[in-house]
Amino acid sequence: MTATLFVNASQVVTCAGPARARRGEELRDAGVLTGAAVAVEGGRIAALAPADELRRRFPGAEEVDCAHGVLTPGLVDSHTHAIFGKSRHEEQEMRALGLDYMDIARRGGGIHASVRDLRARSEDDLVAQALPRLRRIASYGATTVEVKSGYGLTVEDELKSLRAIQRLSSLVPLRLVPTFLGAHEIPLDARATPAGRADYLSLIVKEMIPRVVEGGLARFADVFCEPGVLTIDESRVVLTAARAAGLHLKLHADELRPSGGAELAAALGATSADHLAAISDNGIRALAASQTVATLLPGTMLFLGKDRQAPARALIDGGAAVALATDFNPGTSPTPNFPLILTLAVSQLRLTVSEAMLAATVNGAAALELAHETGQIAAGFSADLALFDIEDVRELPYWYGDRRCRATWVRGVPCAV
Ligand code: NIG
Ligand code: FE
Repeated sequence: MTATLFVNASQVVTCAGPARARRGEELRDAGVLTGAAVAVEGGRIAALAPADELRRRFPGAEEVDCAHGVLTPGLVDSHTHAIFGKSRHEEQEMRALGLDYMDIARRGGGIHASVRDLRARSEDDLVAQALPRLRRIASYGATTVEVKSGYGLTVEDELKSLRAIQRLSSLVPLRLVPTFLGAHEIPLDARATPAGRADYLSLIVKEMIPRVVEGGLARFADVFCEPGVLTIDESRVVLTAARAAGLHLKLHADELRPSGGAELAAALGATSADHLAAISDNGIRALAASQTVATLLPGTMLFLGKDRQAPARALIDGGAAVALATDFNPGTSPTPNFPLILTLAVSQLRLTVSEAMLAATVNGAAALELAHETGQIAAGFSADLALFDIEDVRELPYWYGDRRCRATWVRGVPCAV
């Protein structure tokens, strides 16, 4: 087995440490090394040491020259809605002219517009639409990407979306993690009456979840818990059924208005609670006292033109495990650019660069229950790496909007960027 040595990097950002979400003091230091090289063998990190030492230990190894670059763990984008058809660019201008995200949804736009569009498309078409988008996400440095269904909202259209994700897994070198989001919204026809809502929830519980589990099509189930979308009680029903069926849980919680979503996620032992721009003090305490990762998506609030962001400092200082992700989706965050999210994390959420790097790697991996596998450059972990054209990691959030990623590797295999 030939080893590969990654040599000459200006810095190696290891994020090394326990294979679980980091919090508090553990977020202070992302492990920035100078003069270090990385040996990869059999798709795994074999060792970190000065290059000469690794050359002695791995004679005949190939070398990747990382000169004038910073090597980091591949970024872990733990929250995307990358399966959709058309864009929704017209809504951005509607918001500029005074309509709110929820106003647009109430008029049948928003998620409903993507649902109408996706239902009319074939599985092949969804794969074809998503492929270049995932490649763009990869081109900015992500190596693991969670992808949700949620624009189908019928049994067949949700399964079609999840099958598309499954097919994409073998078409892109990324590590993809599928999430079932049949509870992204109540379909328009069902919303009209209380019986219609109840029927749709029962369809999720009795038909969708069993078929998703039977087909092995998702690891997680997620719900958009938000006033005007799904209530706390409705969310609890869906998540409890999903958990009983063997899925692990995520929750879109307290995104725009507080409704106790964070508390629900913590109480149910969800793997992550996501968004949280409107989380209450009680919600912060609940997450801090739980194992649930608080996944922050600052691109969404920026793109929606909101003047609020999640209280990241209060979450971190209170002891919660914070992750960052793009929320890549056609309605509220159409960016594939994870380093831009790092910029927002530092400039708007007031994270340090170390906190932001750990939130985008180890803690993102923990939000997908993959912290034992990816998210750090340490012996034994998957060789998921990103190389950026910068000389100091602090330049990654600094050159904002710029694509500095030179190359990525997943399981030691180079991804075409
Ligand atoms: O995470 N909040 C719910 N879901 C997506 C947006 C969905 C959409 O508008 O298409 C989000 O922001
Ligand atoms: Fe989302």
